[in-house]
Amino acid sequence: MRIDIITVLPELLKSPFEASILKRAIDAGLVEVYFHNLRDYATDNYKSVDDTQFGGGAGMVMTIEPIDKCISGLKAERTYDEVIYMTPDGDTLNQGIANHLSLKQNVIILCGHYKGVDQRVRDMFVTKEISIGDYVLSGGELGAAVLCDSIIRLIPGVLGNETSALTDSFQDGLLAPPIYTKPRDYKGWKVPEVLFSGNFPEIEKWREQKALERTEVRRPDLLND
Ligand code: ADE
Repeated sequence: MRIDIITVLPELLKSPFEASILKRAIDAGLVEVYFHNLRDYATDNYKSVDDTQFGGGAGMVMTIEPIDKCISGLKAERTYDEVIYMTPDGDTLNQGIANHLSLKQNVIILCGHYKGVDQRVRDMFVTKEISIGDYVLSGGELGAAVLCDSIIRLIPGVLGNETSALTDSFQDGLLAPPIYTKPRDYKGWKVPEVLFSGNFPEIEKWREQKALERTEVRRPDLLND
C-alpha cells in the first residue's frame, strides 16, 4: 500500500511514522508513506496556500491551485483508489472504514487547515471525507495520523500475530473481553479460574459472554446496528 499525505505541516505528522508498529511496517516494505508540503506547490513569492473567504467572514480558506498541482502531479504517476479529505464534517471513522481502506493500493490524504479548503477541491478531487470524531482539531494532521494507524495495523503481516487484529474491539461488532497476565494472584486479586481450565471451547464461550456483557453496558448502540 502507498499513502501520500498532503499537508502544510509535515513536521506535525512525521513522528508517529518513526516509531513502533508504523515504522516496522514501513521498514518491512508493507506500506510506503510520503509527505508533500503544500507550500512547495504555491505559485507566489510568499508561498501562500490560503486566502480570505468570498462573501466575507472570519478565517482563511485553502486555495485550490496548490492542491490541484500536488494531486494532479501524483495522479500523473499512478492511479489512486481514494483521495481522502480530513474534516470534522466527514464520515466518522470506524473499524469498518479502516478495514475497507486497508485493502486499497494507493491513497491520497489531504489535511485541511484554517477554515478548510475551497469547496471546489472537495467537489473535483476528493472521493471520501473522514472525521475522527465530533470535535474540531486545529488541522487534519492528527486525524490523518489516527487514520493511518488504524489502516496500517490491518495490512497483512504488519502485526506480529496475524490473528491479533481479528480479536480487537469492534472487529466482530463487540468490544473486546477482559484480558489478564501474570501473576495469577496479586494481593488476593485473582484471575478468573476458567482461564486456567485448559478447556478452550469453555474459555472461548466465557470470552464471548464477557465481550457481550461489556458491550451491553458500555456501548449498547453497537448491538442495535
Ligand atoms: N480537522 C479538524 N477537525 C477534524 C476532525 N475531527 N477529524 C478530522 N479532521 C479534522
